[in-house]
Amino acid sequence: MTADIQKSLPWIEKYRPDSLNEVYGQDEIVTTVRKFAHEGRLPHLLFYGPPGTGKTSTIIALAKEIYGPNYKNMVLELNASDDRGIDVVRNQIKEFASTMQIFSKGFKLIILDEADAMTSAAQNSLRRIIEKYTKNTRFCILANYAHKLNPALLSRCTRFRFQPINEGAIKERIKNVIIKEELHLSSTAEDALLKLSKGDMRRALNVLQACKAGLSDPQDDIDEDMIYECIGAPHPKDVKSVFHSILRDDWTTAYLTISKFRNTKGLALIDLIAGFVELLNNYKLNPSTKIAILKGLSEIEYAISKGGNTKVQSSAIIATIRQAIELQTEIHKPIEEPL
Ligand SMILES: Nc1ncnc2c1ncn2[C@@H]1O[C@H](COP(=O)(O)OP(=O)(O)OP(=O)(O)O)[C@@H](O)[C@H]1O
Ligand SMILES: [Mg+2]
Repeated sequence: MTADIQKSLPWIEKYRPDSLNEVYGQDEIVTTVRKFAHEGRLPHLLFYGPPGTGKTSTIIALAKEIYGPNYKNMVLELNASDDRGIDVVRNQIKEFASTMQIFSKGFKLIILDEADAMTSAAQNSLRRIIEKYTKNTRFCILANYAHKLNPALLSRCTRFRFQPINEGAIKERIKNVIIKEELHLSSTAEDALLKLSKGDMRRALNVLQACKAGLSDPQDDIDEDMIYECIGAPHPKDVKSVFHSILRDDWTTAYLTISKFRNTKGLALIDLIAGFVELLNNYKLNPSTKIAILKGLSEIEYAISKGGNTKVQSSAIIATIRQAIELQTEIHKPIEEPL
């Protein structure tokens, strides 16, 4: 790969693990599949779990480990969500599985990405295909949700659930990226990045790349505010000031504060609600008050997701919080400041 192409690659590709040793935070899975492969008894695999946790990366790295640099000859990658129909997939599999390599190293590998996007009819015919070609092929099915897969298909595979990657492992991974890209990240920015990535390494890398692109001078520091901005999440201090306005100001001022927050920061009400839910942990509230607020906010969140009117929902947020808090002050336990 020439230096220029390498430079213009998105970081999620540039820093895709090259070997199983570079897959972070999925140690047990890596150890187990590696053992299977070394003992030459790889079963059909199912990797499932949330996005950006390393499913595709792990199977590609495993293929490289089994077959070496020319692994592509022995691997067929299919994306099940391509709109091609099961017949095309079946033919491709048939063609691939039935040509034997002269210097064959046992089985070939068929990777079926996004299998949960297949119709159940397609999944049904897939189980027959798997059985038919088991002699010289192994399938690896990748999906986000195992419950969307046909039970008969599931029972033919050994399942591995990819957990959201823990913050420690993401930190380790991005440490190398920060060094290679010569980034200057403040420690609060790093904490925010780890928290907001929510176990998704792809998001962590994308945000870092976006932050670098946003610097006017590459030597500048990346601070906490930039991370929140690139991720499109509200900064906790903004969430707090809106919350305080709802508690202390009159109705109109509180309403205008929410509108200002939406218009100037370009943030959605749904993000504000998520911010409030997190913020509530910092306050000493009666359990009943907290329950009332959370119940109200979850109903508003649902209404927004169904296309509810923003003005009405903004008012509903104010109403929910104030009503719950007023009940609390009635029994003489005023809300306390953050701990
Ligand atoms: N465990 C990990 N260790 C190191 N890098 C990772 C890991 N998981 C994800 N990444 C990084 O994130 C990018 C996306 O990962 P990958 O394609 O493997 O995710 P995925 O689990 O297959 O997600 P999806 O469900 O969206 O297909 C990779 O290119 C890699 O740079
Ligand atoms: Mg994938």
